[in-house]
Amino acid sequence: MRIIVTGGAGFIGSAVIRKIVKDTDWIVHNIDKLTYAGNLLSLGEAQDSERVFFSRLDICDKTGTERVFRDFRPHAVMHLAAESHVDRSIDDPGEFISTNIVGTYTLLEVARSYWGELDAKGKKSFKFHHISTDEVFGSLGHQGYFTEETRYQPNSPYAASKAGSDHLVRAWNKTYGLPIVITNCSNNYGPYQYPEKLIPLMIQKAISGDALPVYGAGDNVRDWLYVEDHAAALLLALQKGKTGEVYNIGGNSEKTNIEVVKTLCLELDKLSPSKGGVSYSAQISYVEDRPGHDKRYAIDCTKIKHELGWIPKETFNSGIVKTIKWYLDNEEWCRQAMVNYQGQRLGTSGS
Ligand code: NAD
Ligand code: TYD
Repeated sequence: MRIIVTGGAGFIGSAVIRKIVKDTDWIVHNIDKLTYAGNLLSLGEAQDSERVFFSRLDICDKTGTERVFRDFRPHAVMHLAAESHVDRSIDDPGEFISTNIVGTYTLLEVARSYWGELDAKGKKSFKFHHISTDEVFGSLGHQGYFTEETRYQPNSPYAASKAGSDHLVRAWNKTYGLPIVITNCSNNYGPYQYPEKLIPLMIQKAISGDALPVYGAGDNVRDWLYVEDHAAALLLALQKGKTGEVYNIGGNSEKTNIEVVKTLCLELDKLSPSKGGVSYSAQISYVEDRPGHDKRYAIDCTKIKHELGWIPKETFNSGIVKTIKWYLDNEEWCRQAMVNYQGQRLGTSGS
């Protein structure tokens, strides 16, 4: 099988390509613009596989993208390329509209035209898999879970741009018959995540001796999923997911932000104690809240578990230890990532 993966140099896309190379005999063409968040080193050994091809391309570049479809002739597309950081979307939403909405529209049009020229068998088996987020559903109170039927109510420019892209993908299925599947996942963590997101940022700041900025009261809740469990769910949804369907993916692992940061500090105290012997938790500092900060995300992932048989392997405790060890052992990757961003506060310009 030949698969186009967009955003394959990013956090989740690279985990998907690593898994494809390890567990299948598929051939991959990675389309990635290599923004600040993209790094081909994140592919690890998969970067050297003769089954992995790469084009440095913006998904808004229709001609370039058409060329890849024409030459590579994919059986499926896994679309992960996106601007992905809520704080950056608050400061500068333009790139989110461009990549997440216009880019997805462009890719859909290229895929539709390519798909339209396939024979009947090729048309039937083709799949456009759109990878999205639970943030499109907005914020939960203390009770309840996001299901596939939850109303869209995005609050940040990032979430709104992803919601827009989800709607486009749905419409290309309903209107043109393009075979699609959409997955909406909760917060991921694990190796190769850009150190602007909570978990890798806190690890970097802790070991650098910097303050650990917890937004607001630290009581916002996220449902954390280890990235390799997400990648496994994505491969299942691509292979077994019903055309036109949506599947929610989540970690069943709700934590307040302060719980996450305290856990990171305790595990770091064991794995890499600070020179002065003081716990990293002494560096925790409560800072001004994020504008429009969603209170709680939590996923009901019954559908993908029952219908596709997905079972996550990691618990939060096992995954977080693996993650910390990875960041401690991969200083060069972190150094390269931090060339573009040195950990300054982002996302305050909305207040
Ligand atoms: P990321 O920011 O780590 O990676 C995004 C990748 O897309 C980068 O390699 C970047 O270079 C590339 N890219 C950005 N703009 C592009 C463009 N115009 N053309 C081509 N490539 C471009 O993001 P991630 O965390 O790996 O997220 C991947 C996808 O999964 C996104 O669609 C995101 O919305 C979704 N998602 C992320 C999470 C999460 O917790 N990180 C959770 C659920 C869903
Ligand atoms: P983040 O990793 O940006 O993911 P998202 O906003 O997509 O959920 O943030 C996760 C949570 O951590 C979110 O509630 C905001 C909070 N947060 C902090 O408290 N401090 C920080 O420095 C960052 C980056 C996030």
